[in-house]
Amino acid sequence: MNLDNILLENKNGIATITINRPSKLNALNKQTIKELHHAFKDADSDPNVKVIIITGSGEKAFVAGADISEFADFSVSEGEQLASEGQALLFDFVANLSTPVIAAVNGFALGGGLELALAAHFRLASDNAKMGLPEVSLGVIPGYGGTQRLPQLVGKGRAMELIMTAGMIDANTALNYGLVNHVTTQEDLLPLAEKIASKIMRNSSVAIASAISSINAGFEDGENGFDTEVTEFGKCFGTADFKEGTQAFLQKKKPNFPGN
Ligand code: COA
Repeated sequence: MNLDNILLENKNGIATITINRPSKLNALNKQTIKELHHAFKDADSDPNVKVIIITGSGEKAFVAGADISEFADFSVSEGEQLASEGQALLFDFVANLSTPVIAAVNGFALGGGLELALAAHFRLASDNAKMGLPEVSLGVIPGYGGTQRLPQLVGKGRAMELIMTAGMIDANTALNYGLVNHVTTQEDLLPLAEKIASKIMRNSSVAIASAISSINAGFEDGENGFDTEVTEFGKCFGTADFKEGTQAFLQKKKPNFPGN
């Protein structure tokens, strides 16, 4: 498909996806969500890609939300469809990828933008970043997983306050809340994401995929994360990566994981 609203870079095992609608502060319209779905899917199925970084173009915004102009006249059923399709194509899709996804939040991450960052496996922010879920100021609620993933990360009380006030927090408050793992300058944001990605890449990608499934299971209704952990743990023993990792340790060598 034509990629009009995103930029892709694939280098040294890292796929960087940049949302590129700076004149609209990278707001997520339907087309951008579809393009992102394709880009994440392609990156996840490429065996050479070990980590995916998602960021926004320009110095002002990661993503300033879902594109308000697209849904302003929607009906009840269209609203419900917007949320369910968006979750299936992008937000749940990203959260459940087996390739690690790091969100590099380089400015405003509002509404659907913060929800996209929340769907990533973890987040870094530049010191100018501002984050919030302002949906109730528009008469709607977060519909791309924000009412679920924000309390999981920052606790129910903080999520309630942030959502009810429609307020924004700065990068250091987000760090303090555990919403982002690191804060750095805008200039150092992608280099830091790449540095963390290179640490991840030294490890077994199949074991990492099992860890993601196991961690996610603990946050899913009807799933028992401990049971998933037992199953995923067992599966690791059948992988070539496990043989390589344990043999390399015993032989005091660096592992060279085949990735299967
Ligand atoms: N949907 C559609 N367009 C958006 C948008 C969104 N979520 N966020 C920003 N834009 C557009 C603006 O309409 C404007 O377009 P225009 O130049 O054609 O008028 C452009 O992006 C620049 O935004 P602007 O509001 O002029 O920038 P600002 O610096 O004054 O304010 C924000 C920045 C982020 C505070 C402000 O854009 C904002 O509040 N955006 C909406 C945030 C929101 O409610 N998101 C949740 C949506 S569910």
